[in-house]
Amino acid sequence: MTDKTATLSIDRGEGKIDAIDLPVMEGSLGPNVVNVGALTANGYFTYDPGFTSTAACESKITFIDGEKGILLHRGYPIEQLAEHSDYLETCYLLLYGELPNPAEKHEFVSIVGKHTMVHEQIRTFFNGFRRDAHPMAIMCGVVGALSAFYHDSTDISDSHHRTVAAYRLIAKMPTIAAMSYKFSIGQPFMYPDNSLNYAANFLHMMFGVPCEASNISPTIAKAMDRIFLLHADHEQNASTSTVRLAGSSQANPFACIAAGIAALWGPSHGGANEAVVKMLEEIESVDNIDKFIARAKDKDDPFRLMGFGHRVYKNFDPRAKVMKQAADEVLEELGIQDEMLEIAKRLEEIALKDPYFIEKKLYPNVDFYSGIILKALGIPTSMFTVIFAIGRTVGWIAHWNEMISGSYRIGRPRQLYTGYAQRDFVPLDNR
Ligand code: SDX
Repeated sequence: MTDKTATLSIDRGEGKIDAIDLPVMEGSLGPNVVNVGALTANGYFTYDPGFTSTAACESKITFIDGEKGILLHRGYPIEQLAEHSDYLETCYLLLYGELPNPAEKHEFVSIVGKHTMVHEQIRTFFNGFRRDAHPMAIMCGVVGALSAFYHDSTDISDSHHRTVAAYRLIAKMPTIAAMSYKFSIGQPFMYPDNSLNYAANFLHMMFGVPCEASNISPTIAKAMDRIFLLHADHEQNASTSTVRLAGSSQANPFACIAAGIAALWGPSHGGANEAVVKMLEEIESVDNIDKFIARAKDKDDPFRLMGFGHRVYKNFDPRAKVMKQAADEVLEELGIQDEMLEIAKRLEEIALKDPYFIEKKLYPNVDFYSGIILKALGIPTSMFTVIFAIGRTVGWIAHWNEMISGSYRIGRPRQLYTGYAQRDFVPLDNR
C-alpha cells in the first residue's frame, strides 16, 4: 500500500457529486493499482470485460513489461533461463522462489522422477475415448480424474498434500500426454524411463516402442526441454486466471489444473500454436502472404493472423525471439529445409512493416514459431497445445499454491445488468 489516494468523483445528478477515496497500492515493478474495494459500499461496481485494466491478485512469481517486451520469472529474465537453465530447474524456481543449489536440484529432479508413472487403472480410461479424440479432450478428462486416485494429495489445507500434488502433476502430465498420443495411433503405452531426463523421457514415451530400445537425440531433447521452459508461466493469463478462480472455491488441485487445460485449449490462447501451423499450411506459399495479411486487416473477415498480437505485449514477446532462434538452430541441426519456416519469417517481415500491425502493436507471440519447432521435432500438430499444457502446468500450480497458501476469498465478479426489471409471470393461456 502507499500513502497515495485516488479520489473518484461521480456525478449523481442534481448537482450531487460523490467523492470516493480509493487507496493506491504500489508493486515492486510495474504500474500501481487502485484498490476499488470501497466502491461497492458506495453503490458502484467497476466494469472491465476481459480484465484489460484489472489486477485480479497480488503475485511474486512472474513479471511482464508488455511495452518493453520483458518477462521475468522470480526476477530472472526468460532469455537467461532459456540459455542457462532447464525446465525442472525453472519449475523449482517458480514453485519455491529461488534457483536450487545442486543438492536441492538433485532432490527435486529425483522426486519428480518417482511420480512419472500413473495408477495402472488410468490406462483403462483411454478405452472410453474414440481413437480420433483430440488429445486436449483426453487431457481435460484424465487430469481431472486424477483426483479420483490420489486422495492423499487433495487436501488443499495441508501443505504436504499441496507439495505432493505439485510433484504428481509436473511428473504425470508428460506421461498422460504421451498416452493420449499413443492411444490415437493404436500403439502400446510406453512406461516412463527414469534414467532419462524430463524431456527425453517424454519423447521416449511419445515415440518409443516396446520392441526397440529408445534412441533419443540429445539435440531434440534439449529443444523439447527449452519449449517446456518457455511455456512455464506467464502471470495472470486466461488459463492461469481460470486455475486461480477454480482454486478460490477450494476445489482440489487436479480439478483446478483440468480447468486450466480447458481454458488453454482455445485458439485465442494455447490453441494458437496449432492454429499457426494450420494457417501457414493454408497460406502454402510466400506468394499468398499479401492476401492473408489483407484478410487479417479486414474487419468483415474473422480471420486473424494466428501467433500475432497479445493482450500484454505491445512489443516482441521475448519468448518468440528465443523460439525463432531455436527454430533456426533445430532445423539446421536436423538438416530440415522447412518451407513453412520461410513463410513464417516472410509473414513476420511483411506484417511488421504494415501500418495496421504497427498501429495496433501486433507482434509475433510465443505461439508463432513454436509450432514450427514442434513439427521439426516430429510432434503431431494435434499435440501442440498439449505440449503447451505440459510446460504451463508448473505455472498453474505455482499460482494456485501462492493463492491457497496465502489469504484469499472465493472469486465472484459482479455484472452490469441490462436485462428486464422485475415483471409478473404470464400464464401459458395468456401468451
Ligand atoms: C497466448 O495472456 C497470455 O499471457 C497468453 C500467453 C501465455 O503465455 O499464457 O502469452 C499465450 O495465448 C498468446 C496469444 C495466442 N493467440 C493468438 O496468437 C491468436 C491471435 N491473436 C489474437 O486473437 C489476439 O491478439 C489476442 C487474443 C492474443 C489478444 O486479444 P486482445 O488483447 O483482446 O486484443 P483485441 O482482440 O482487442 O485486438 C486489438 C485489435 C483489434 O482490432 P480493433 O477491434 O481495435 O480494430 O487488434 C486486432 C483486433 O482485431 N488484432 C488482430 C490480431 N490480434 C489483434 N488483427 C489481426 N490479427 C491478429 N492476430
